[in-house]
Amino acid sequence: MKIIKVKNYEEMSKRAAFIIASQVSIKEDSVLGLATGSTPIGTYKQIINIYNDKLIDFKNITTYNLDEYYDLSEENEQSYRCFMNQNLFNHINIDKKNTFVPNGKAENPEKECKRYDSLVEKSGNIDLQILGIGSNAHIGFNEPDDKFAKGTHLVDLKQETIDANARFFKSKEEVPKKAISMGMKNIMAAKKVILLASGENKAQAIKSTIEGPINPLVPASILQLHPDVTFILDEEAASRLDK
Ligand code: GLP
Repeated sequence: MKIIKVKNYEEMSKRAAFIIASQVSIKEDSVLGLATGSTPIGTYKQIINIYNDKLIDFKNITTYNLDEYYDLSEENEQSYRCFMNQNLFNHINIDKKNTFVPNGKAENPEKECKRYDSLVEKSGNIDLQILGIGSNAHIGFNEPDDKFAKGTHLVDLKQETIDANARFFKSKEEVPKKAISMGMKNIMAAKKVILLASGENKAQAIKSTIEGPINPLVPASILQLHPDVTFILDEEAASRLDK
């Protein structure tokens, strides 16, 4: 496990974008695992800058997003598909046909989960997975539970996650109560993982993830078992670590 401590959100975003840009340059047909939430927005902006400087090419890149709200259509502004289009895909030369997000409107969510897993597997698994973290240490939408979920699955969101994500919706009632999320098998099969965290509200989740026991009640703690994981933390997110 590698820990990179940086001063603030901007530095975190630059460091992460640099790693992603290197991956895309070294392997032009890379498979990227992408995350949503406010944390990676700065990273995506930096990637767009690097792309505009003509230093990277997304023509042959494939992406898989971690998750999508259940029962939200992709046209809904709060859908993660919409988020990805607005914050990244619309600004780079990626072929949208090669960008995958679980279908939140799938009539049969179980079938959709299986379909998504087989797509990821067929692509040879993810080369570089980008993760944020919830304040309860969830990754993707793998919420604290008594066991780690393996494959893509339908999740009942925890109240704290609904509350945290309510800031993106007009009212708390509008926040979906369920989501489709990749499981830990998908995430752990990624060849390289980077987890980004910024802000004091992530400090405890980061401490438990890195220094606590591996425990499904702290979903991100499973990353301790990943052979190539890098945490990029700003001062506040790293503030409770022992060293
Ligand atoms: C959502 C997403 C996660 C993300 C988390 C934290 O629940 N499913 O992938 O890491 O929010 O979001 P933020 O970066 O806005 O704090």
